[in-house]
Amino acid sequence: MGLRSDRPARLPAVIQGGMGVAISGWRLARAVARLGQLGVVSGTALETVHARRLGDGDPGGHLRRAYAAFPEPTLAERVLGRWFLPGGRASGQPYRDVPMFLLQSPQALRELTVLANFAEVHLAKIGHDGPIGINYLEKIQLPTPDALYGAMLGGVDYVFMGAGIPAALPRLLDKLALGDEVSYRIEVAGASGGESHAVRFRPPDVVGRRLGLARPGFVAVVSSSTLASFLAKDPATRPDGFVVEHHSAGGHNAPPRGPATSDERGQPLYGERDEVDLGKIAALGLPFWLAGGCASPEGLVRARASGAAGIQVGTAFALCLESGLSPDLRERVLASSRSGETEVLTDGRASPSGYPFKVLQLGGTLSDPAVYSARRRRCDVGLLRTPYLRPDGGIGYRCPSEPVGAYLRKGGSRAETAGRICLCNALLSTAGLGQQRAAGPEPPVVTMGDDLDRLVRVLGEHGAWSAADVVAYLLGDQGGAQAPIAVPAPQLSAASGLSKEVVGR
Ligand SMILES: Cc1cc2nc3c(=O)[nH]c(=O)nc-3n(C[C@H](O)[C@H](O)[C@H](O)COP(=O)(O)O)c2cc1C
Repeated sequence: MGLRSDRPARLPAVIQGGMGVAISGWRLARAVARLGQLGVVSGTALETVHARRLGDGDPGGHLRRAYAAFPEPTLAERVLGRWFLPGGRASGQPYRDVPMFLLQSPQALRELTVLANFAEVHLAKIGHDGPIGINYLEKIQLPTPDALYGAMLGGVDYVFMGAGIPAALPRLLDKLALGDEVSYRIEVAGASGGESHAVRFRPPDVVGRRLGLARPGFVAVVSSSTLASFLAKDPATRPDGFVVEHHSAGGHNAPPRGPATSDERGQPLYGERDEVDLGKIAALGLPFWLAGGCASPEGLVRARASGAAGIQVGTAFALCLESGLSPDLRERVLASSRSGETEVLTDGRASPSGYPFKVLQLGGTLSDPAVYSARRRRCDVGLLRTPYLRPDGGIGYRCPSEPVGAYLRKGGSRAETAGRICLCNALLSTAGLGQQRAAGPEPPVVTMGDDLDRLVRVLGEHGAWSAADVVAYLLGDQGGAQAPIAVPAPQLSAASGLSKEVVGR
């Protein structure tokens, strides 16, 4: 594989972090890329996001325009035939359900997944020649090969993955780029070490032929030098770079190291051991970016002084005008911050993934005990379901946020269900795509980083802000919003051949 262009090798100083569900969509990623930095779309639940946008009549026609560029037009026609409602749903009409992923998912779902990932990247890349990334969670395994292939068909430049140990990704990307069949190992709870379960994916099944595609760079999101070293030591698992995320970041956080302890509000207690040894990360010789509470010009300078190529920023972009956060929620978040009322809780219980999750305490959302207890539990998106071995030897799927009785019948424990939020339904609602129920729309939940109030003070002085305002603020006097910062030569020369290809755009 040769360099994709002969432009000088550069890495972005600012990565706009991938934010699910649909908070960092193509509009935000494209706006950031046009400013010369790296825009990242969230790949989480994109199939449902697109099915629902199609159910709303595809306002603006963006999805249909992108689908028209898909290399296999009959696949796009089948997806439109299933989910597109010209003129959109009638008022109060629920969205058409998307089937849930299984070890062998229905073909209609796989086609929707490939197409949605393709289109989100395709749209993000229009109007500039900068790179675009896509972000997935290792914890959500079943859609991964289909989603990756769709994004690669769209020309994605970087893949980011956190929330787990993404050791299989480098080889998976190598094979998909060649158009080879892949088998992606799936963790099944209760299965013995000898058993192996996998999702298989054959590129010709969706595009009718074997295509050679550019191999995107792979950036692993880590919160410890131990995990970074483990991934870097074997060429088969070595990523092309790292995002090193601190537990102050919005979204999911790594749990504290060592024995679990929490404060009186159930927040996990972090200590010295959770501060990442950046010297050890730098010594691995791969480019890295710092994330979590570093969204300031000083944060960028400090990051670069530690050997990082720059910073990854979430919260500041989540609240900007191009973000997919519903405008009504954005206004409420800003108002609550300005009145000094915000509180961001690191909730050890909320996420069915088991990882701590930052929850902004905001009335009318699931952080409000009255809203939480009024919601009837259901599981119909199912991305955070865990496959488990049933007593009859078959594979079942369960989620601690599903109805308690169903979870117990599947062998889960009651203790696991306490305080869980259905993040699938809630986060879709946060992006304005909540399912309509008999009792009303699904309630949202808002995640923000610990740095929220400072950012609102700095960026929100005159009201709402744009992605360009965030980038200009972060770069400060370091060369203006248009100019990505060249990475010092030693880092690039230490990087793998693949990462050179990646950054060579
Ligand atoms: C609203 C929101 C959603 C996020 N969703 C994801 C996600 O789906 N996957 C992920 O790897 N990181 C996610 N993050 C983390 C960001 O990508 C980024 O690393 C983090 O926000 C950086 O810290 P900061 O919030 O202090 O800027 C999310 C962050 C926010 C604020």
